[in-house]
Amino acid sequence: LDKYAFVDHFVQKNALPHKEMASAFAKTNIALVKYWGKRNRELNLPVTSSLSVSLPVGTYTTLTIGENGSDEVFVSGKKVDTESVFYKRTTSFLDLFRPKNFFFTVETKNDLPTGAGLASSASGFAALVLALQKLFNWSLDKKALSMLARLGSGSSARSLYDGFAIWHKGSQENGLDSFAEKIDATWPELRMGLWILSEDEKKIDSKNAMIQTTQTSFLYKAWPEQVANDLEKMHEAIQNSDFTLLGTTAEHNALSMHATMLSSAPSICYFLPESIRGIQKIHDIRKQGYEVYCTMDAGPNIKVLFLEKDRMAIQNEIPELMVLEPFRQGSDEINYAE
Ligand code: DP6
Repeated sequence: LDKYAFVDHFVQKNALPHKEMASAFAKTNIALVKYWGKRNRELNLPVTSSLSVSLPVGTYTTLTIGENGSDEVFVSGKKVDTESVFYKRTTSFLDLFRPKNFFFTVETKNDLPTGAGLASSASGFAALVLALQKLFNWSLDKKALSMLARLGSGSSARSLYDGFAIWHKGSQENGLDSFAEKIDATWPELRMGLWILSEDEKKIDSKNAMIQTTQTSFLYKAWPEQVANDLEKMHEAIQNSDFTLLGTTAEHNALSMHATMLSSAPSICYFLPESIRGIQKIHDIRKQGYEVYCTMDAGPNIKVLFLEKDRMAIQNEIPELMVLEPFRQGSDEINYAE
């Protein structure tokens, strides 16, 4: 089964657009139990399920469709080179939905830097499917949209939701049971601090890094079992608002993922010296008695987990931290103008 045949399950082939322009916003999400490894590359099916929390920052995308010219992609008003990976990834995703002889203009703006392990591809593809839904007047539910977003980037399946979300790995070969859904829970005191240590583009993208890890790391063999355990713990932590369990599980899961990467051949290392110093700083603050934990993705930056009660102490220790409130009231209402 290829991507095109998969898309046929959801949308009518060659249907004409309902309007010329549509805009959408989607939140960034950070995995607390990571997705690392694909069981099917074509349909982007993961080896394991993963669990995330969405943040009140993300991607705004405006999509225009017309019958003239060629695809154009703009990031923050700047035209993206047609030879770039970003352009190719975006336009080949749009190919899946493109009516014959139509072209797209994509104008996208991120609250956070692109390509620095801050999940801009997650919010990017989620915003793109939401804009496509408006453009073509589909009436797909979020479960279906999460499966379409998944084809662009796995983690984007989780970006359709506010709060906690789980992306089920599914077991079918047709990919129709690998979708994301909301976890019905709220945690108003939960904080995530973004500790941006470098805004440089990553040296190896997650897709290729995953392939390299799954093919060469012996440690990866233990990863699916660990994820299954961590998912159970994370569900329990969320249901009981047990922050110690959430933090220890998230940190252990993230560092174990990086261990599988470090143990691949050639080794993949997303850490900068600053990242290691950062992790050690988190451990030091913890020793002082504050409950603070970290998680990291495919980049050198650190995401810091803590509760509102310790915010002052932690911001004192790490003044450059950008503190976000995943469950802030009203953050659901952010909705980009039509
Ligand atoms: C480390 O979703 O970017 O952030 O499906 O190949 O686009 P592709 O990968 P992507 O990988 C995200 C990896 C991660 C962990 C996570 O978000 O679960």
